[in-house]
Amino acid sequence: MTSQRRPLVAGNWKMNGLKSALSELAAMAQGYDAALHAKVDLLVCPPATLVAAAVQTALTGLAVGGQDCHAKASGANTGDISAEMLADAGALYVIVGHSERRTYHAETNAVVKAKAEAGLRAKLTTIVCVGETEAERKAGKTLEIVGRQIAGSLPDGASAANIVIAYEPVWAIGTGLTPTTADVAEVHNFIRTALTGRLGEGGVGVRILYGGSVKPSNAAELMAVENVDGALVGGASLTAMDFLGIAAAYK
Ligand code: PGA
Repeated sequence: MTSQRRPLVAGNWKMNGLKSALSELAAMAQGYDAALHAKVDLLVCPPATLVAAAVQTALTGLAVGGQDCHAKASGANTGDISAEMLADAGALYVIVGHSERRTYHAETNAVVKAKAEAGLRAKLTTIVCVGETEAERKAGKTLEIVGRQIAGSLPDGASAANIVIAYEPVWAIGTGLTPTTADVAEVHNFIRTALTGRLGEGGVGVRILYGGSVKPSNAAELMAVENVDGALVGGASLTAMDFLGIAAAYK
């Protein structure tokens, strides 16, 4: 992390959370005190059904985001949600290209790019996720895959002000496994180089999050790695205790 990039700890609740979960969000907002606020941005991406209520609950400070969006602003797309709808509900961020979307919804880099463009169109800070599978890592293809995902998913008009990259090795998501800090550094440095190659000096300001089994006990070590500017957190973002425990890595 360099001083010019403000860290971001983002929670992705995935398909978890009924109205009762808003009490956890309220506890997170309460724990996001001035000392923490001075050091790190906090974001929670609840299911779309809770975005508007979460914005009310989080009040000032803690940001709320969506987990996915459609590429179009509106239309005959039953069940889909547009970036404009998320923004209208008070979201400030949207995640696109999460590996669960890439895998279970067959989202290609081109689809992810179109969704990221939608995020920018709706003035949402857009978190573009990339990461290799276990088979790809074992085959020595991690950098090749991540490079292709960055090249193919990053929208035109990307800048430090509107884009965040999340590196999430697929095999580390929800498994309790994490790469070594050396492996994290290798990929994050590679992503930084790809960003500056594409965006010039502007690429230096883009935040690159690490995601995959981040928890309070490993957050400080992972967040200290060069070019790791925060975390994208799944399971451990569901409770205020764990989520704030991760954010405390920046205290
Ligand atoms: P996890 O999920 O923290 O539960 O591993 C991370 C993610 O999918 O963003």
